[in-house]
Formats: sequence, C-alpha cells, structure tokens
Amino acid sequence: MKIGILKETQKGDHRVAISPLIAKQLISKGFQILLEKQAGIASSYKDSDYSEVAVEVLERDRVFKDAQILVKINPFDEDDLKHVASGQVLMSQLYHQASPKLIEAIAASGATAFSMDAMPRISRAQDMDVLSSQSNLAGYKAVIKGAYEMTKIFPLMMTAAGTITPSRVLIYGVGVAGLQAIATAKRLGAVVEATDIRTETKEQAESLGAKFIAVDNEGEASEGGYAKEASDDYAKRQKEAVDKSLFQADLVITTANIPGRKAPVLITKEQVAQMKNGAVIIDLAAAQGGNCELSKLNETVLVNGVKVLGTTIAPESVATNASELYAKNMYNFITHLTEDNQFKWDLEEEITKGTLIVKDGSVLTN
Ligand code: NAI
Repeated sequence: MKIGILKETQKGDHRVAISPLIAKQLISKGFQILLEKQAGIASSYKDSDYSEVAVEVLERDRVFKDAQILVKINPFDEDDLKHVASGQVLMSQLYHQASPKLIEAIAASGATAFSMDAMPRISRAQDMDVLSSQSNLAGYKAVIKGAYEMTKIFPLMMTAAGTITPSRVLIYGVGVAGLQAIATAKRLGAVVEATDIRTETKEQAESLGAKFIAVDNEGEASEGGYAKEASDDYAKRQKEAVDKSLFQADLVITTANIPGRKAPVLITKEQVAQMKNGAVIIDLAAAQGGNCELSKLNETVLVNGVKVLGTTIAPESVATNASELYAKNMYNFITHLTEDNQFKWDLEEEITKGTLIVKDGSVLTN
C-alpha cells in the first residue's frame, strides 16, 4: 500500500506526520511512502532526507492521487477533501465529536477515516496515543515559556552577592502535560506543588518531587483515566486547599481538561488579584475556554502585575520532537491495523473500533 504524507497547512504548525526514520521503517514493512514536496522542511527534515530512504517526493496533487492512505496531523479540511477519492483511507486528528460537519464531508467523499485523537486510553494503545505524546512536550514547553516570561530564575543560588531563593511553581492537573511540567520545573530547581481531582495522581506527582495538594474528592467521578466535571462544592474545597500556594506562586501552569467539555475554571479573577506581583500563569487549557477566568487564547493579559498567557503551547513549537513522536505513534498504529501490507479491518477490535469514524462513506456510531 502507498502511504502519502501531506504537508500541514494550518498556520504556524511546523510538524509533519511521518519522519524519514519512520518512513524507512514502514518501507521495510513493505509499504511505499510518498511525500508532498517540502512537507518536512519546517520540522527540520529535507526532501533529500526522505528520498535517501527511498521515499518518493511528489507534488501535492500526485500524493492525493496516488496514495491509498493519506496521513496528516491536523484534521483534513475542505480544501483537502476536494482531492480525496472514494476508497482512500485518511488518518489524522479529527476531533470528531466537535466537528460533525467535517465528518459528514468526509463521508460524502466516500473515504474511510481514522481519528488519532480518539485512541482508547488502554495500556496497549499507549504507544499510539498522539494526545499523550504531544501533551508531554506541551508540559515541557510550558515551563520553558514560563521561565522566559518570569522576572526570576528557578533555582536556589548562593552567590557572593547574596542568596536567591528558588521560584515556586504550582501545577493544576497532573495528567500527561502536568507530569512533564512537574519534572521540568523540578529539573530547573523550582519548588513544585501540584493538585488534581484524581487522588491517584498524588503518588505520581510525589515520585517526581512535587508536593501534592490533596483536595477531598468524595463523590467526584472519573472514567477511563479522565476526570469528569467537578461539582461546585469541590471547586470551593479546591480553592480552600490551594489558595495559599497560588498566592505564593511565581509560576502557575494549568492543564485541566474534561474531554468533550469546556475546561473547568480553577482560577477566578478575584484569585488572580491576590497573586504575587510578577507572577505568571500559563493556561494550557485556553483553547477549551481556559482554566483561568482571565485567559484569552494566544494572548498575554496583564492584570495587577500578573501575566496570564492563554496558550495551546503548541507541540508544533518543538516541531522536530513532536513530529518524531507523532510519527512513531503512526507507525505503531498503521502496523497494528495491517498485516502483510493489507488492512485487517477487525471492526470489533477495541483500537480499530475507537478510532474508525467513517468507513467507506458511512459514519460509524461507536
Ligand atoms: P487531561 O489533559 O484530560 O487533563 C489533565 C488533568 O487535569 C487530569 O489529570 C485531570 O484529572 C485533571 N483535572 C480535570 N479537572 C480538574 C479539576 N477540576 N481540578 C483539578 N484537576 C482536574 O489529562 P491527560 O493528560 O490526557 O491524562 C489523563 C489520564 O489518562 C492520566 O492518568 C494518564 O496517565 C492517563 N492516560 C492513559 C493512557 C493510556 O493508557 N493509553 C494514555 C494517556 C493518558
């Protein structure tokens, strides 16, 4: 089968779905790989890096025309769909629950589509989970961005001119991004605290050197590794438990999400008003409405000396590593779905069932 790698067209996204190394591994499995010209250049891969491992580098139209499987990171859009033919298999993130019109348009093209962001959160799918691989990098980059925006350094520093006390970092949400943020802030020498509605994250946070701020979560639910919406009562208890740390923090990173819902507001404007002058909030949930009431997506808001950065912290800002990891996820997924270079179409299998959104022009309800 021929796999076509398309260039990402979303503004500012520098990633590519398959790296030269992974292209080589897929070729050794019997696939042929086609690359749209310059698709990897923004993530540091030249066309010649691909052609050296026997990838065919082509114009965009030819990739659409010749490939049986088309891969991207961002959702296929209207423009892409003009070139998609019945029988082709599309693989990208589709955010299908939030994009019913896109799914209908894919179905109308007669194609089949897998959504990488719909990967079930089970152990054997961990190495195919693009949300995790990209969130991990976002957690790292959030700390780096915070460090850049702060007017302080992270570590304790004893100098002849005096002692600098370490910065205090507070992390809301100890999921994939939160855990990497803890690890990165610790490595840089900060004093790190973290909180999460799921108490099972306490041990994980502590193992990375953070102090866990426990909030009584009696009656709060979680499902499949994901938190459910917290009650008002929980939000109140959370404020009581966390406020002291929030008001002392130099950097706050928020990562809390509820799948398919608006992100919970964990920091109100009244709380921001009590924070330290010079403190920085990096709100990674800004695209889902934000964990801080003051966040504005892709903007820096300055209130009472506190900088609030509403950001998606694009994994695309570390495009080389983000592409490497996304590509490895794709390799594991494609080799899982196929045998002897053909799709197995085992529709009852959990990973296939979770990610297959459109089959031969019909929208599946799973
Ligand atoms: P996420 O991005 O959905 O949310 C981040 C964190 O925010 C979660 O830990 C959540 O509990 C927390 N949160 C939500 N509402 C909150 C509130 N009101 N207050 C405080 N915290 C709140 O999470 P992510 O990073 O996707 O991970 C969720 C879980 O799924 C983790 O335990 C992770 O290890 C697990 N997971 C399992 C995978 C697998 O088995 N294949 C793959 C990826 C993650």
